[in-house]
Amino acid sequence: MSDLPLLKVNNLSKFYGSRIGCKDVSFELWPGEVLAIVGESGSGKTTLLNCLSTRLLPSTGSVTYRMRDETYRDLYHMNEAERRFLMRTDWGFVHQNPADGLRMSVSAGANVGERLMAVGDRNYGRIRQTAADWLSRVEIAEDRIDDQPRSFSGGMRQRLQIARNLVTSPRLVFMDEPTGGLDVSVQARLLDLLRGLVNDLGLAAIVVTHDLAVARLLSHRMMVMKDGHVIEQGLTDRVLDDPRERYTQLLVSSILQV
Ligand SMILES: Nc1ncnc2c1ncn2[C@@H]1O[C@H](COP(=O)(O)OP(=O)(O)OP(=O)(O)O)[C@@H](O)[C@H]1O
Ligand SMILES: [Mg+2]
Repeated sequence: MSDLPLLKVNNLSKFYGSRIGCKDVSFELWPGEVLAIVGESGSGKTTLLNCLSTRLLPSTGSVTYRMRDETYRDLYHMNEAERRFLMRTDWGFVHQNPADGLRMSVSAGANVGERLMAVGDRNYGRIRQTAADWLSRVEIAEDRIDDQPRSFSGGMRQRLQIARNLVTSPRLVFMDEPTGGLDVSVQARLLDLLRGLVNDLGLAAIVVTHDLAVARLLSHRMMVMKDGHVIEQGLTDRVLDDPRERYTQLLVSSILQV
């Protein structure tokens, strides 16, 4: 891990009218670090993630991001073209519902290849080969390369979405409940796969989940949210094994888990 944070979040708040989405959130994320955001339904996890990834504009606060040229840029003061470029190259976003992150009517190969073309690769043979390699990396048989994702199972779609996001070697990946819509048996394998890829690629990631097992397996550090506030944060093992806040204790002892 580098000695400079990748992301610096300062007093971020988002209000929906008078309702709190998230409030006064501050933290730093280092390269290669996986941060889990946990909390019950409505605690503000998605709101926070969407503000961080600039899909949503916060009401107050700032987020700065260390670009590849080492300069820090304020995410909310970039122009649209710069933000889009970041999203296409440096960042990935894995949606809970793969249909939101895939193009369902183009082939699996094109779903992966498209991201490569977006970063300037124009060599068809190489793009197809890289797409095929990535399909096998996410355990999709290469002979499915010309099939559309609508003919894939839920787990396959999610793995395809992951391949599409990781093919460009992003530095930061946002994930909102990446295993949320899947059968328990499929979840475990997907998590294993995801953990391997994140480790191998040295990715930084912010993972929203209500599932503490996902946080345990994937993350180095975690933040616990309640009613829009971060009420506890720390190393994942510390928070899960020795929670300080009463609310986190209840969460961990599964009284609050659904
Ligand atoms: N578009 C919106 N308009 C108004 N209020 C919203 C909107 N989106 C979220 N909220 C409110 O903001 C709060 C946080 O919602 P958010 O979706 O961030 O929670 P969450 O932790 O992601 O929940 P879940 O686990 O159910 O996905 C909730 O009170 C919610 O009702
Ligand atoms: Mg949510």
